[in-house]
Amino acid sequence: MVSLHSRGLAQFEVLEPAGHYRDGDTHTDWSSEGPGLEAALERDTYPLPRTEDREGYYGGWHFSYWASGYRDARLLREACERLGVDLRGYLDLGCASGRVLRHLALDGDLSEVYGCDLNRRHVDWINRYLPAKAVAFQNHSIPSLPLPDNSLDAVSAYSVFTHIEAFETAWLMELRRVLKPGGIAWITLHSERTWAEMNDNWGLYKRLKHQPDFAPYVAHESRAELPEERMVFRWYADRSYSSKVFYHQDYVRRVWGRIMEIREEHHRLPKKQDVVILQKT
Ligand SMILES: C[S@@+](CC[C@H](N)C(=O)[O-])C[C@H]1O[C@@H](n2cnc3c(N)ncnc32)[C@H](O)[C@@H]1O
Repeated sequence: MVSLHSRGLAQFEVLEPAGHYRDGDTHTDWSSEGPGLEAALERDTYPLPRTEDREGYYGGWHFSYWASGYRDARLLREACERLGVDLRGYLDLGCASGRVLRHLALDGDLSEVYGCDLNRRHVDWINRYLPAKAVAFQNHSIPSLPLPDNSLDAVSAYSVFTHIEAFETAWLMELRRVLKPGGIAWITLHSERTWAEMNDNWGLYKRLKHQPDFAPYVAHESRAELPEERMVFRWYADRSYSSKVFYHQDYVRRVWGRIMEIREEHHRLPKKQDVVILQKT
């Protein structure tokens, strides 16, 4: 399977805009985001996806779902500023129903905002409910993007390389192709530190511990070291997006660092996954 839900016309019910769910959302204290969040909240009058249309993110905490996208977009903008990137053209690979993308589509400084996903339902959702600047398209699991060479300032992949079981290097080369020289790729991953730190409170670990290949590593003591530089735990052989992948930092530096320059590495930013920021030279 190279795509998901490609048949049929998606039917959706949607939620109210984020402001509707603010009172009573105690999942996370977002006050440190300050006035920027307030302004974004006022601007964003678009519906929110239901929990099942956003990969389950934040369960019933709809405002926190929205605010997490605001925070991640802010972190990306800040990285662009640090690395001298004028953010105008942007792609979010594996964007789901636009958790982060919606915030960049509502940012007047950006002129081109693309999102793509294997899952046709997510693509339909964005193209139906988010402002027209957000252009979503369905991609397949064989790396290829219908975008011109050297055209974008930043690309991101939040919790996507954590699931790409094959062709991760070809995906990086494809992202490099669409980036302008100097453009950056923000990629989140599970590292050897994730491997050692995850425990029963992590959704990742709760799912992994039922995976037969993971049986030797269920005990925390068995996870001091990542046994291989790149570990793939695959659920179904006939389906894309059914794996959990871990990368050792040494592998990322040695292999990914040949494709683009590694400019920053962050542990658990903002929460559980690590981030590598690569730059096309
Ligand atoms: C864990 S979700 C993260 C969604 C979104 N990035 C976010 O942070 O809210 C992973 C998403 O990546 C998509 N995906 C997985 N493998 C992909 C691939 N090779 N190409 C594009 N999308 C992919 C899935 O369909 C899913 O929507």
